[in-house]
Amino acid sequence: MKEFSVVIAGGGSTYTPGIVMMLMDSLDRFPIRSLKLYDNDPERQKIIAEAVGIALKKKAPQVAFSYTTDPAVAFTDVDFCMAHIRSGGYPMREKDEKIPLQHGVVGQETCGPGGIAYGLRSIPDIMQLIDYMEQYSPNCWMLNYSNPASIVAEACRVLRPHARIINICDMPVGTLRRMSYIVGKTPKELDVRYYGLNHFGWWTSVKGKDGTDYTPQLIDYVSKNGYLTQKAIETQHMDESWQATHKKAADLLAVTPDCLPNTYLKYYLYPDYVVEHSDPNYTRANEVINGREKKVFGAARSIIAAGEFKGDEFEIDNHASFIVDLARAIAYNTHERMLCIVENKGAIENFDPHAMVEVPCLVGNDGPEPMCQGEIPTFQLGMMQQQVAVEKLVVQAYCEHSYQKLWQALTLSKTVPSAKVAKEILDDLIEANKDYWPELH
Ligand code: NAD
Ligand code: LMR
Repeated sequence: MKEFSVVIAGGGSTYTPGIVMMLMDSLDRFPIRSLKLYDNDPERQKIIAEAVGIALKKKAPQVAFSYTTDPAVAFTDVDFCMAHIRSGGYPMREKDEKIPLQHGVVGQETCGPGGIAYGLRSIPDIMQLIDYMEQYSPNCWMLNYSNPASIVAEACRVLRPHARIINICDMPVGTLRRMSYIVGKTPKELDVRYYGLNHFGWWTSVKGKDGTDYTPQLIDYVSKNGYLTQKAIETQHMDESWQATHKKAADLLAVTPDCLPNTYLKYYLYPDYVVEHSDPNYTRANEVINGREKKVFGAARSIIAAGEFKGDEFEIDNHASFIVDLARAIAYNTHERMLCIVENKGAIENFDPHAMVEVPCLVGNDGPEPMCQGEIPTFQLGMMQQQVAVEKLVVQAYCEHSYQKLWQALTLSKTVPSAKVAKEILDDLIEANKDYWPELH
């Protein structure tokens, strides 16, 4: 069996240890000969990498492990790049969330003005990763789950149309797991039909492999409880803000009662509720800085101090096993059915063929082949047309350095009440992002 060489871009990410643990647990189905971490922040990466190195010596000493900030070293001789970078880090995420809130508008990592700001930072960084990959390992595939995935995917379509990159999101995978708890199955036993944009979509069917239709049961459950299950709370130590998000799905379902909503739709359907329930001085970024980041970096520092890995310091990110499934699908041509973010090309029949949509795909060694989801109803179509226009305008604004188009993008976002508020937020975001964004005129 071929053994693969993998580079994780965003080596210093809070997700890296969990993903490495998951990769080590999956070596029988996805063998690895070499694992490299790559980051552009040497200090941050060193802490994670030193600790991961100690853990790997114990768990999988046969895997050659290294870390670097040199793209030539990172991207030479690799088969897969798993990319999860955060351009601007948590300090900029905090601004993405707090600036819109100061104007009474949703402040979120990937939705609304915050997502647009993050998108303009991510585009050049992801394009650069693609270029490194193509320069040093032209046959490599990039499995990208850096956010904001919709805008990043649209930028890839426009700027690097032939790149071997697959944009994918863990959110539908996580929701499918919750659905599987609700109906007493495992996610692998279920097949879904789904359409939308990233962080903006609906499940129209959830069926067992034997054809049993669980959709009515799920609709009934979600209409009362959202996606919140006791098991999910107990097994995932879920932060309170996420519990509230899963619960809110009941109100999302009320708007489209015959299909199951992606939880991120709350930012578009109930922005007033979201703003009322946000603390402009303490947002999700603060929760993550004081929660996940402290926990992961604390664990890493303890391993380094002890010079030893006991085995339970890092949680295995089982949640991220979709990344191994995706790599396997490409490496072994498995044609597994997975949700990917791809150019529509008719998969959603009555929607822009050149939009980047999230739909089930069969993934093989040529990448994802989208499965046709047919025509979609007027309400969802209208919402998607508005949102995809926002995403396209952001990428056009980036390419043309256009203030006007970025203002239009913000104005069109369903989270923003008027062109006036859009302009005020935009001017603040320009100031906050001056080290990252192209100069707009
Ligand atoms: P983080 O800030 O902890 O980690 C990101 C890392 O990327 C940092 O170490 C940073 O230095 C590095 N980085 C930034 N720009 C870079 C560049 N141009 N080149 C190389 N490295 C760069 O962030 P995080 O919370 O761990 O999230 C990382 C990304 O993963 C985000 O985009 C996030 O939205 C996404 N994400 C992934 C999952 C998943 O399942 N893995 C889940 C949710 C979110
Ligand atoms: C976030 O930090 O909010 C996102 O990266 C997803 C998560 O884990 O909450």
